[in-house]
Formats: sequence, C-alpha cells, structure tokens
Amino acid sequence: YDNRTPYEIIGGAETLARLVDIFYDHVKAHPDLARLFPEDFTHVKERQYQFLTQFLGGPTLYSDLHGHPMLRARHMRFPIGPVQAEAWLSCMKKAMDEAGLEGEIREHIFDRLRLTAHHMVNQWDQNE
Ligand code: HEM
Repeated sequence: YDNRTPYEIIGGAETLARLVDIFYDHVKAHPDLARLFPEDFTHVKERQYQFLTQFLGGPTLYSDLHGHPMLRARHMRFPIGPVQAEAWLSCMKKAMDEAGLEGEIREHIFDRLRLTAHHMVNQWDQNE
C-alpha cells in the first residue's frame, strides 16, 4: 500500500518545477491561450508552481502566500470557454509527456486537472 502523496510520487519540487516550465512554453505558443496571458510568465509560473504543489499534497505554498485559492473567482476576469479549457488541457498533456509523468499517477492527476479546467469555464456562447 502506497500512502505517499501524488506530490511525492511524481518526484516533488524538481518534477513540478520542470512540469510548470514546459507547460507555460506550450501555453505561450498556443493560439487559443497566449493572448490571455501577460508577456512575462514569471509571476504566473511561480503561482502555478505554488498551487500545484499544494494541489498534489505537498506543502501549502499557495495558501500560505496568497490565501484561499478561489481559482474560479481569480479566473473570472479572463474569458474562458470550452475551447480554452481543452487548449489548457492539451498543453498540460504535452507537458506531462515531456516531464516524464507516467502510469496511474499521471492519469489520476490529469483527471483532477480536467475537472478543475472545466470548472474554470465562464462563458459558453462564444469561442473567442
Ligand atoms: C492564473 C488562464 C485553468 C491555475 C491564470 C491567468 C490566466 C489563466 C490568464 C492569469 C495570468 C496573470 O496573472 O495575468 C487559464 C485558462 C485556463 C486555466 C485559460 C483554462 C481552463 C487553470 C487550471 C488551474 C489554473 C485548471 C489549476 C490547476 C492558475 C493559477 C493562477 C492562474 C494558480 C494564478 C492565480 C493568482 O494567484 O492570481 N490562469 N487558466 N488555471 N491559473 Fe489559470
């Protein structure tokens, strides 16, 4: 029986830092996502790293620094449709491949991210 957290199973801080870096390189290059983001990804990378660390059972870095994540509320100022949610997930899938995440734990994490991404959708009537 494996009672380690997903954070530990994937290799902790080092793996997550790599995943986040690769992920935003794909986001930056994605035609449906790039324009939502600022030119400088430093800040969003830091926050995503902090968030995913706690999301996967590691130290509560995000909440310690920024309070409750309230992710849906924090995304309301950006128009996010189903197209953007799928685009986000496709970037994450590629990043997981390239960061070497495999097997059951990868599927588990991706399933949770899929739910979270769909939860961020805040507009349905246009795909812009
Ligand atoms: C921030 C887009 C899904 C976690 C942001 C920002 C944008 C964005 C534009 C703000 C960048 C800035 O600071 O200017 C999207 C889109 C998504 C999506 C289009 C598609 C569904 C997700 C998901 C997660 C997530 C699934 C978590 C797993 C975060 C975090 C921040 C953030 C932690 C920083 C929030 C803060 O502290 O301000 N996102 N996001 N996002 N996103 Fe997403």
